[in-house]
Amino acid sequence: MIPIKSFRERRLALASQMQSGVAIVPTAPERVRNRDAHFPYRFDSYFYYLTGFREPEAVLVIVADAEKSQSTHILFCREKDTEREIWNGFRHGPEAAREAFEFDEAHPISTLDEILPKLLADQPAVYCALGEDGGWDTRVIGWVNRVRQQSRGGISAPAVIRDIRLLLDEMRLFKSEDELQVMRHAARISTDAHRRAMQSVRPGMREYEVEAELLHEFRRHGAEAPAYTPIVAGGANACILHYVENSARLASGDLLLIDAGCELNGYAADITRTFPVDGKFGPAQKDVYQLVLAAQAAAISEVRPGNPWEAPHTAAVRVLAQGFVDLGLCRGSVEEVTETEDYKRFYMHRTGHWLGLDVHDAGEYKQDGAWRPLQPGMTLTVEPGCYIRPAENVPQHFWNIGVRIEDDVAVTESGCEVLTSAAPKSVAEIEGLMQHRQA
Ligand code: GLY
Ligand code: MN
Ligand code: MN
Repeated sequence: MIPIKSFRERRLALASQMQSGVAIVPTAPERVRNRDAHFPYRFDSYFYYLTGFREPEAVLVIVADAEKSQSTHILFCREKDTEREIWNGFRHGPEAAREAFEFDEAHPISTLDEILPKLLADQPAVYCALGEDGGWDTRVIGWVNRVRQQSRGGISAPAVIRDIRLLLDEMRLFKSEDELQVMRHAARISTDAHRRAMQSVRPGMREYEVEAELLHEFRRHGAEAPAYTPIVAGGANACILHYVENSARLASGDLLLIDAGCELNGYAADITRTFPVDGKFGPAQKDVYQLVLAAQAAAISEVRPGNPWEAPHTAAVRVLAQGFVDLGLCRGSVEEVTETEDYKRFYMHRTGHWLGLDVHDAGEYKQDGAWRPLQPGMTLTVEPGCYIRPAENVPQHFWNIGVRIEDDVAVTESGCEVLTSAAPKSVAEIEGLMQHRQA
């Protein structure tokens, strides 16, 4: 768990980077799935990052005074309501929330329209995620206009609206030790889930039966949810990058690609493993698998402070391009295959992304036009793959083989820590674990 004081420290760090002004950060709305049923509620990542507060219908406001180096942290949230709490569960209410989450003030959410124009009076700037939600943009501009209407009384309205994400994305990119602890835990639960999937799969099962094993493992360890829709893709389905039907029957001789990770205390794990449904890699499958594994090892060895974001991807592409030539999938030299991007017929995505509260987490990949250098505290995925669809010029024994291997890594002072190494990855580890399955 992230201690409550850490959320307050983040607000103070944000306020110290803002010049004087007012930050407005709403949480996510509840969303209707159909008629009276809602999607499972998930808070907004920016809001949660700054508050730790999980209830819907809440807004954080920070009033920063740069001259005095002071800031006031205000929560707007739902009021206590015995009747609603009988139906839908506990609500903190402003007073208890203020105390428990260390805000300076808390007010009922119903007072937002009345209080915000007062808070914005004589403030130079508003900080919000402009463009994220049209409804909120309109509300913010409405409050600014309400202040402007008081100009003849000598009150000035904020003259600029700044994008708060520029500050928050940079903060979220660097994980604290508290956050890394949570991410290690999310990784542990997710690697257990992948092990369980390897141990439970049998030819003839449906993909969703394996998905159920993953979800079982997530929930029984207290993870809130999958961090994204799991991909459980047998045989040719592994060549569909975002396959989520998860309903086909698994055949002996097929590979099974599973891309699944849980969300724990808001933080995502994102793991892919590919393994044989019957526990033993065939020769062509093994060739492709070992190639992707070598590409991943090359990529991970490039994750260290000072290396540009692009270095792991470049290393993975180099190994894959050589392998595609060696296996007869691409023709020409490695340089030609790389320069003409012929390798993209089999490897068409990038090698990773930032990871954190969002599975594709906040943070710029470039700075001043150049790939930014990796730095300690950044967390990212390393996920090369190879997807071979049937085609005339492709040797038939490779058709419909799809392999991806994905781990989560944290950049350290000296290199990196692989958070997800407990999920078996070498051919020997996978075949060894699967050999000991009960019949
Ligand atoms: N699971 C989404 C991704 O690997 O990026
Ligand atoms: Mn990923
Ligand atoms: Mn993934």
